[in-house]
Amino acid sequence: MSIRILGIESSCDETAAAVVIDGREILSSVVASQIDIHGKYGGVVPELASREHLRRIVPVVREALEQANLSLRDVDAIAVTQGPGLVGSLLVGITFGKTLAESLGKPLVPVNHLEGHVHAVFLEAHKSAIAPALPAVCLIVSGGHTVLYEIQFKDGQSVDAGSLWSYRKIGQTRDDAAGEAYDKVSKLLGLGYPGGPILDRLAAAAGNVPAPVKFAATKMRGNTYDFSFSGLKTAVLYHLRENPDYLPEIQARESAIARGERQFDQLLPLCGAKTLGLVREFQNAVVRDLVERTLRAAEGIGVPTVLVSGGVAANRQLRASFEERALSAGLKVYFPSPALSTDNAAMIAAAAYPRFANKIFADISLNASASLPIE
Ligand code: KG4
Ligand code: ZN
Repeated sequence: MSIRILGIESSCDETAAAVVIDGREILSSVVASQIDIHGKYGGVVPELASREHLRRIVPVVREALEQANLSLRDVDAIAVTQGPGLVGSLLVGITFGKTLAESLGKPLVPVNHLEGHVHAVFLEAHKSAIAPALPAVCLIVSGGHTVLYEIQFKDGQSVDAGSLWSYRKIGQTRDDAAGEAYDKVSKLLGLGYPGGPILDRLAAAAGNVPAPVKFAATKMRGNTYDFSFSGLKTAVLYHLRENPDYLPEIQARESAIARGERQFDQLLPLCGAKTLGLVREFQNAVVRDLVERTLRAAEGIGVPTVLVSGGVAANRQLRASFEERALSAGLKVYFPSPALSTDNAAMIAAAAYPRFANKIFADISLNASASLPIE
């Protein structure tokens, strides 16, 4: 019998709902982004985020059911993100999910947002000839997290979509997440929020313009599978301070963003060669660091499979670099499609399936957890 799970995600600035069959087949996936609201503040404003989740959650869930051609009664379980994330935002999804589950008499499945990102890699796997296998090293790289896990099947669990996994953390950022570095550098350059998508495209447009600055690789003491991105962000800040000729351009872009002109085609003409070179060098440094440490971890642990997920995994240079380097290292690397790399609810419904199969349910006392550890 097929199990249909309605997933709800509201941990940050995306209100999302999706229906997924047996943890693998997406019937619908609806994501309402709040970028227009937070964009002008240069980052997510928690109070505005929870208010917007409240406004959007009912229409988003309704649309997910309509696209799946199902009614609430047809759903076998409700899955909600329990954490980590912004508590006020999480609570909207959790309260809504609890109410639905209670009133329909359906099980409520609590899901860790990070485990959702890992499952996003497997979601489309049934369509591909070579599906990823465990054990694997997984890099979750987003606006809130940059963390490396070794993932195995839990004792007694086997290779199927309903099996539970165990996670061993092998490295993490000691300061900013990679996506946070993108967002902060974007703000410094007057390019708005979120920074990743626009810097990704500007770096690609930079071509061979001369590099105005070079960023050294970050050296880590202690655990060399850890990451650090605040030094790079500070290096960009100092470079901008030492070169006041960037300022008129930055101000022109800030004015464009304030007018709502934040598309790539609108911002590219406001970026001189020096800015494009700086963006390319910043991205080179982030990508080099993420790829090197992740592949070194996989080789060090002796695991042939690498999974990369989270918002920054949508980055085209990161994907290309991982693929090229993994090939020469004899490793296999897998990503979700770009749309499933960033926050969505299909990944929450997918991660809920093994929990449903193993009857891991929550009751009405379920609460949000800002820093929920992955189990
Ligand atoms: O996974 P996500 O949607 O939300 C969190 O759980 O944080 O990730 C959002 C982050 C933001 O920091 C955004 O700037 C970054 O992912 N991002 C990217 C790209 N698309 C989104 N970073 C680099 N390149 C991209 N193409
Ligand atoms: Zn996320």
